[in-house]
Amino acid sequence: MAALQIYQFPCLSDNFGVLIHDPDTKATASIDAPEAAKVLAALKDKGWRLTHILTTHHHADHTQGNAEVKAATGCKIIGPRNEAARVPGIDEAVGEGDTFALGAHQVQVLDTPGHTAGHVTYVIPSAKAAFVGDTLFAIGCGRVIEGTPQMMWESLNKLMALPKDTAVYCGHEYTQANARFGLSIEPDNPALEKRAKAVDELRAAGRATLPTTIGLELETNPFLRPHVPAIQRRLGLEGKPDWEVFARIRELKNTF
Ligand SMILES: [Fe+2]
Repeated sequence: MAALQIYQFPCLSDNFGVLIHDPDTKATASIDAPEAAKVLAALKDKGWRLTHILTTHHHADHTQGNAEVKAATGCKIIGPRNEAARVPGIDEAVGEGDTFALGAHQVQVLDTPGHTAGHVTYVIPSAKAAFVGDTLFAIGCGRVIEGTPQMMWESLNKLMALPKDTAVYCGHEYTQANARFGLSIEPDNPALEKRAKAVDELRAAGRATLPTTIGLELETNPFLRPHVPAIQRRLGLEGKPDWEVFARIRELKNTF
């Protein structure tokens, strides 16, 4: 079984498009369809024929290309069962525990609600990759718009339990601003300081900071570190449950 090829490219102002290609069977998936023209151009560049769109959540900046890309390629659209009515062109609805084939590779579905009520994450164990949409970002996490902080914390816990070397593909390039916020929460984390410098260098060179890994996020993402005593002390929340500390960090980020 040949390794999957994963191609990430910028879309809109700060979204990412991602194509996943199985060289054995030629199956090709687009994670979301933020911008039809960019997705179609990326397919042309690579010489790949699209077979699937895997929708993470219903927000327009992730689904507005669905109709045009489907019309141009005849692809099948797979999306979250719990918000299927809001996903344009959806053919198959999936949720927690479902699996499906992308060529010779298995895709596993996790429900990761919080940013939206039905948000899903697609995990491909053979590629050691997770496509998390707007649930987890590099040094950040999605805004809790349709769910509760507890719900979002549970979703993040599912991602935190993935192998540390899992590559994480996120919906947006928000890392530089997230690093500044992260340092305001945990200024004495040397791994975060080092990463913030590396992120500045990448952005200065016009390069993407994604994908990240679960291991790197566990070390540097304040939203995944509510158990850290120094963070609890800084926020005056010593001994509080993780989800409560997480909720406070999320609240602070909303107005940072
Ligand atoms: Fe979103």
